[in-house]
Amino acid sequence: MNSIAQLAVPREIRKSFAFTPQTISVETPETVARLHCNETPFDLPEALKQQLTAKMASLAWNHYPDFHNTALKALIAQQANVTSENILLGNGSSQLIQQIVSCFSKVFSTAILESPTFTFYHQVCQNERMSYKEWILSPNTGFDLASFPQVTEPALVVLTSPNNPTGATLPLAELQTLLEKHPECVFVIDEAYGDFGGETALSLVQHYANLLVLRTFSKGYGLPSVRFGYAAGNAALIQLVKKYTIPFTVNCFTEVIVSEALTNAEFIKFQQANIQRINNLRDFVYQLIDEVATPHTFSVQPSAANFLLLRFHDEDLYNNLKFALQANRILVGYPLQNCLRLTIGTEVEMHRVVRLLKKTMAQHKSRAIETNVVCN
Ligand SMILES: Cc1ncc(COP(=O)(O)O)c(C=O)c1O
Repeated sequence: MNSIAQLAVPREIRKSFAFTPQTISVETPETVARLHCNETPFDLPEALKQQLTAKMASLAWNHYPDFHNTALKALIAQQANVTSENILLGNGSSQLIQQIVSCFSKVFSTAILESPTFTFYHQVCQNERMSYKEWILSPNTGFDLASFPQVTEPALVVLTSPNNPTGATLPLAELQTLLEKHPECVFVIDEAYGDFGGETALSLVQHYANLLVLRTFSKGYGLPSVRFGYAAGNAALIQLVKKYTIPFTVNCFTEVIVSEALTNAEFIKFQQANIQRINNLRDFVYQLIDEVATPHTFSVQPSAANFLLLRFHDEDLYNNLKFALQANRILVGYPLQNCLRLTIGTEVEMHRVVRLLKKTMAQHKSRAIETNVVCN
């Protein structure tokens, strides 16, 4: 078994876990830990916010934004290594998801979604009256090409990589196999968590006419409040989806903040450091949790995103932990039955969760022993 000291993680993270009452501030249960919607825990520094606010104040608020968001689109295209024709901007990737499904529900009668996936896809398909088949992901191996559903007619295929809620990734070579095998289908690769890990499919956009890649600034860039995402794809596909755009979905304040996120050295440094910190902490917490997991209690899946999925095999333990988390005001996601999804928060928050998990397991075990003794 690894001890904290043996694990290859930065010293500041190790230090925060090798806690004593002297080295870590005691959390009161009043502090809510927001570990339920895959946000980053780090807000922008105050000075940077002031700089951005000054830029927003200097704009003419009485004018519409540029209809095509030309400058921002060019910046995004440069970042994604494509041309502006390959880019469609949106009010968060949720808006683009809605737009893409709405568009292709008029072209195809069916979709293929992974299972599990981001639940919004189910909602949008249902709203658009688009039936879907599911590609069942294995808890152990993730995406397995052998189990890809039979394609009997052209379809919209939507895959999230890293997957929400498991954190599993689809290797680029496997995506290429699918794109080539099914040129009659349009593939949407949702890379909402792509800043944290996995291979990006952006480099394939110029080579495949049936591929759309979705990215958001809500996760790795830490800007869910700003509402910005984009789709990159073949110019003809982008043109088709664009027909379903509501005018001015990207406002001029969003333009300012996103441009700064891509060009301001201080912003870039801050964002990159946060991703590094979150990824280090994710891998460290994964090891700590995996050490206490057993076949009878729960398992935790390796993840390339900013969250970990825990699958419980003991329902009582699951319910006890749920109760303990709620009582301690720790919010986590419950995307699947007997599972919880834990967003990687601060070191202190992760420490609270790991401590509570271990405590709940110990209590659960001693209760089980007592019950056994009484029954015998
Ligand atoms: C897989 C996935 N795609 C898209 C989104 C939507 O992100 P946003 O609309 O904030 O860009 C989320 C949000 O949690 C997500 O998990």
